Amino acid sequence: MAQDKYLWWQKGIIYQIYPRSFQDSNGDGVGDLKGIITRLDYLKWLGVNAVWISPIYPSPMADFGYDISDYCGIHTLFGNMADFDQLLTEVHSRDMKLILDLVPNHTSDQHPWFLESRSSKDNPKRDWYIWRDAKEDGSEPNNWLSVFGGSGWEWDEKTQQYYYHAFLKEQPDLNWRNPEVQKAMFDVMHFWLDKGVDGFRVDVMWHMVKDDQLRDNPPNPNYKQHESTYEQLIPAFSTDQPEVHDLVEKMRDITNSYEERVLIGEIYLPIHRLVTYYGHNNNGAHLPFNFMLINIDWDAEHIKSKVDEYEGALPEGGWPNWVIGNHDQPRITSRVGTSQAKVAGMLLLTLRGTPTMYYGDELGMRDVPIPPDEVQDPQGLNMPDKDLSRDPARTPMQWDDSENAGFTSGKPWLRIADSYRKRNVKVQQEDEESMLLYYRKLITLRQKEPALHVGDYVPVQAKPPLLAYIRQHENKRILIVLNLSHKPCVFRPQYQNYKGTIVLSTAPERENRKVEGNISLSGDEGIVVALE
Ligand code: NOJ
Repeated sequence: MAQDKYLWWQKGIIYQIYPRSFQDSNGDGVGDLKGIITRLDYLKWLGVNAVWISPIYPSPMADFGYDISDYCGIHTLFGNMADFDQLLTEVHSRDMKLILDLVPNHTSDQHPWFLESRSSKDNPKRDWYIWRDAKEDGSEPNNWLSVFGGSGWEWDEKTQQYYYHAFLKEQPDLNWRNPEVQKAMFDVMHFWLDKGVDGFRVDVMWHMVKDDQLRDNPPNPNYKQHESTYEQLIPAFSTDQPEVHDLVEKMRDITNSYEERVLIGEIYLPIHRLVTYYGHNNNGAHLPFNFMLINIDWDAEHIKSKVDEYEGALPEGGWPNWVIGNHDQPRITSRVGTSQAKVAGMLLLTLRGTPTMYYGDELGMRDVPIPPDEVQDPQGLNMPDKDLSRDPARTPMQWDDSENAGFTSGKPWLRIADSYRKRNVKVQQEDEESMLLYYRKLITLRQKEPALHVGDYVPVQAKPPLLAYIRQHENKRILIVLNLSHKPCVFRPQYQNYKGTIVLSTAPERENRKVEGNISLSGDEGIVVALE
């Protein structure tokens, strides 16, 4: 069949697990690898193809695992290497793939590399990190800010220099201009690829190289008080430097030296910059993560213009992708509301390109309010007046209506939504109208229809608040119409008469109905129509 020329990461659906919060197996209140293993059958039932797990490596947990002290180990909280090997085997035996998080931009300040680097100015690893003298007045070498608040520079009393950290001071940035650093991280990639992992999601790929003169970042004239202090400057010299592409290319070469592995980049940039991470002749990242659906104003006009802009900006042969949520962002149901969440799911799973879902979104899990004295996320703690904590989107998965939602027999590390007794996997598996069964139907449809997983994208004129497009493969054409408002609306095709059958709707009673010409939609409705 024609679609066999497409690879698993093009046809498939990626599901992100935040390991602390998925399933605990030993009662310590934190999710672990054994817990994930017990839930793989659920993921298979749901129909996703690949699992990406946020970091599981040894870490002091200053940034919940994104501060790594050993790139080739497993944190005892999550289990051990035997558990990991078992996880990989179990994932593969279900014909699924496993993607790991690679965090190359920075290590933990407890990583042996950094301990050596900070031990003296002439240590051979001194240049593995970004050390600079103070200015004459003792101040920081430049004005760069930390994403998590305050200066990006930390003074080291012992060696009388500053080091740069784009995130916490416990996360010093590596100096990727140093070839030894490159080699060390490439060895890490080989270690996991040799074990058989199916690819990496590369943390903050666009941060990896900094301006070689470390010039000051310019002020951001559009800065708003409620925003993170980091937004005060435009990170023109601290991120997205031209040299980063050589590194991405090297990472891609390593990935390519194994069969069918994938390289995904976490990159928050405007579309025209984002697409440069596909590389010349597509020798960069396979999938530079596209976060447009996360940041967008939720209305038909904005979504249409962004989807079309993205489609138009993709390099030839560059495979698109869409992300609906992750562990750093408010959950989709909280962003767009419960009634639009099904529409959002339909958009994610019917656009052209690999979809990435975030655990629990398939249940309509919402951001859980965390009382100030329970906040754990450093971003929230460092800028308490700005409501930037990421904890609300990281709460434990809601499996059933038993105590602690079936997540743990102990005290969960983060509180669980009060509503878990109603909103959980077990209850929703029995409820025809639930978000979970809706997601499963959408996934099943996408998997079975080549037009949806590999077909072309054809924009269709529709008046806002409607959004419409066709996915097309060989003779099969599928029309998607989404109502981005709460009010009923009529889709009035201007140049064509679309005739077909509704194969999926956010309102199940509409399914199997024939439609032709003008199509009425209820508020918050989305339909998928198989055209004749
Ligand atoms: C992006 C990750 O997704 C986020 O959780 C983390 O805090 C930063 N990178 C720093 O590693």
